[in-house]
Amino acid sequence: MGPRKIIIDCDPGQDDAVALFLALAAPDELDVLGITTVAGNVPLELTQRNARMMCDIAGRTDVPVYAGCKEPLVLNAITAEYIHGATGIDGVDVFEPETPLQDEHAVDFIIETLRAAEEGTVTLVPTGPMTNIAAAINRDPSVLDAVDRIVSMGGAMREGGNRSPSAEFNVLVDPHAAEIVYQCGKPVTAMGLDVTHQVLSTRERVGRIREVGNAVATATADMLSFFHRYDTKKYGSEGAPLHDPCTVAWLLCPGLFASKACNLSVETQSELTMGHTAVDFWHVTDRPHNVEWAYEVDADGFYELLVEKLAVFGD
Ligand code: RIB
Ligand code: CA
Repeated sequence: MGPRKIIIDCDPGQDDAVALFLALAAPDELDVLGITTVAGNVPLELTQRNARMMCDIAGRTDVPVYAGCKEPLVLNAITAEYIHGATGIDGVDVFEPETPLQDEHAVDFIIETLRAAEEGTVTLVPTGPMTNIAAAINRDPSVLDAVDRIVSMGGAMREGGNRSPSAEFNVLVDPHAAEIVYQCGKPVTAMGLDVTHQVLSTRERVGRIREVGNAVATATADMLSFFHRYDTKKYGSEGAPLHDPCTVAWLLCPGLFASKACNLSVETQSELTMGHTAVDFWHVTDRPHNVEWAYEVDADGFYELLVEKLAVFGD
C-alpha cells in the first residue's frame, strides 16, 4: 500500500505551518496532492503566501498551492492577528516565495481531484475554517465518494472556547461550513482544543526542535517562540498549544491519541453561542456518532515524532 493521499486545507498560521512541515517530512507515508488555503488567522492573500513560503523552506516548491475562499459561507470574516501577528507567521522573516500560486481556485482543485480519484482514497485535512471543503461538498456532494476520512482541527468540549466563551476559532469563523463537514457522512477524526491544549510547545520542547539545526526546524522554533506569547499569558501555561500538527501526527501515528465515537453538532443560530461544538461525549442523546472525538494525547510522544520528522530535512 503506497502513501496516503491527502489534501491539506489551511490558514497559516504558525501551527498550520508546522503541520505542513510535518506532512512534507513523510513522503513515504503521506502524498500531499495539494495545499489549499482559506481566509482564517489572516486574510487569504497572506495565508496563501505563507503556505507557499513553507513549501520553499521545506525545499518542496513542487507542491501545488491553491487560494480558496476569502469569506465564510454566511458570516463576516474574523481574523486572529492578535495571536499570529500581522503576517500570520510572525517569528520568521517574510519573503516572496518561489513556490507558485496555482491559477485554479482551491474549491475547483478539491472537486476535480476528488472526481478523478478512486472511491475512498483521499484524506482531507482541514486545519482552518472549513469553508473550502464545505463549498466543494455544496457544489458536488458526489465528490465525497473519493474521501476516506476527514481529519480536522477544530471545536472544543471540556476546554470551552478560545475565541468566544463557547466556540473554538476555526469553527466560529465558519460554523455553517463546519456543520456541513461534520455532518457529511464520511468518517471524521476531530482534533479539538481538548486534545490540542495537551501539546504545549514548552521552552524545553522548542529547544529540542531548535537543536535539530536545519532550516525547517529553525523556522519552526522561531515561529513557536513568537506563537506562544498570547496563549501563555492567557492560560498561564508554558508554551502555546500546537493545534494543527495534531491532525498530521494522528495520520502518522494514531496510537498517540485516544478518541471516542460521539455526536458533534455545531450551533449556527444563537448569537451568544455561535460556533459552539456540542459534543455528546457521554451519549446522553441518540444522535448519530458522526465523529471520533480526540480527548487524550501522548504529548511527549507527539514532540518526539515532530523532532524526528523535522530532522529529515536538509540544511
Ligand atoms: O483554534 C485554533 C485554530 O485556529 C488553529 O487551527 C489555528 O491555526 C487557528 O486557525
Ligand atoms: Ca489553522
